[in-house]
Amino acid sequence: MKPLRVGIIGTGSIAQMAHIPNYLKNPHVDLVAIAEPDEGIRSTVQKELTDKTDHEIAAYADATSLLRQATLDAVSIATPNMSHIDLAVQAVDSGCHVLLEKPMALTRESADRLADAAARHQTVVMVGQSHRYRNDVSALKRFIDDGALGHVYHAEARMIRRRGTPTGWFTDKEWAGGGPLMDIGVHALDLSWWLMGKPVPVRVSGHLTRAIGADHIDFNGRWTAKMPHNQDNAIFTTEDFAAAFIRFEDGATLNLTVSWAINGPQDDGLKVTIYGDKGGLTLDPAAIYSSEHHVLTNTVIPVGTGPMYQNEIDHFVECILEQKTPRSPVADGRTVAQMLVAIAESADRGEEVAVRR
Ligand SMILES: NC(=O)c1ccc[n+]([C@@H]2O[C@H](COP(=O)([O-])OP(=O)(O)OC[C@H]3O[C@@H](n4cnc5c(N)ncnc54)[C@H](O)[C@@H]3O)[C@@H](O)[C@H]2O)c1
Repeated sequence: MKPLRVGIIGTGSIAQMAHIPNYLKNPHVDLVAIAEPDEGIRSTVQKELTDKTDHEIAAYADATSLLRQATLDAVSIATPNMSHIDLAVQAVDSGCHVLLEKPMALTRESADRLADAAARHQTVVMVGQSHRYRNDVSALKRFIDDGALGHVYHAEARMIRRRGTPTGWFTDKEWAGGGPLMDIGVHALDLSWWLMGKPVPVRVSGHLTRAIGADHIDFNGRWTAKMPHNQDNAIFTTEDFAAAFIRFEDGATLNLTVSWAINGPQDDGLKVTIYGDKGGLTLDPAAIYSSEHHVLTNTVIPVGTGPMYQNEIDHFVECILEQKTPRSPVADGRTVAQMLVAIAESADRGEEVAVRR
């Protein structure tokens, strides 16, 4: 079988860290082209890629030229949030399979547009909810699918950074659509909702605030966008803390707390706790809490996160080759977008709101 011809739209931080190296490792893929408007980033990535592969990589300044000229089977889209849906719909309409970075969509209408386009073309459209591809998460999912939790009635998801506000366009609401809610909250919400068994969300109470904003802390690492926009965070129009309480149709509830900056202890990584009437689980550490023979039991799962991004890219490729629905499909991205929008709407109005679908 001929390798898939893959292109990357947007070759900044996450493309260079996750997409490009893992496509290069996949034996079913030929990485053949990139689209990147920033001339410096484009020529650096083109040169590095041409050096690493045995062919010349085509580099375009815009996605339209790439999609018209490069004859591709699939693309990764790794651009700032506000451009996701237009680019993904354009790529799907030109016949490509698409791996789209999170957050999939910033509005309900735009999520619907992509879902409609994906249905029209029957292509694989996968959302880059990378935490679903962790080894420890895959291990826990086996227990869940085997009924280890019983009826799930509450979950808690949090991702608390004491200081970890990304630099660049992330703090500009016009580009990012929101702060930690859209950046890391989307991971915490997506993962916990999926592990709960994807209950139907009905009502949401949200709270967003910018408490700390742009500050300067030495000796502290943080994510840096490569795109040369707002590198000093002078534009800070998003929240830096988000909390939400979500009610589901089956009576279950979910508590979400995320921050880029907070005056409290650093809480590394994504923490999830799920409570069911038969068992419960924690992620990080991965464990199942239950009882057997009238004795309480803890099942510790000694599996690490594994190569999450490589798993994600390999899964995307496998879904294309085997015509499978991805583990993180557009339909799920759409429901998550509906919850995110409802959280922001509730925070604006200062009251609980219905999740509109
Ligand atoms: N899954 C994860 O764990 C993860 C981690 C980090 C970032 N992300 C997501 O990846 C996306 C990119 O984030 P980043 O940190 O790499 O940002 P970045 O600024 O480093 O990279 C974005 C790149 O896209 C280019 N670009 C902008 N508009 C474009 C367009 N219309 N067409 C083609 N290229 C365009 C920019 O010039 C830049 O090089 C965001 O949506 C972010 O939320 C996901």
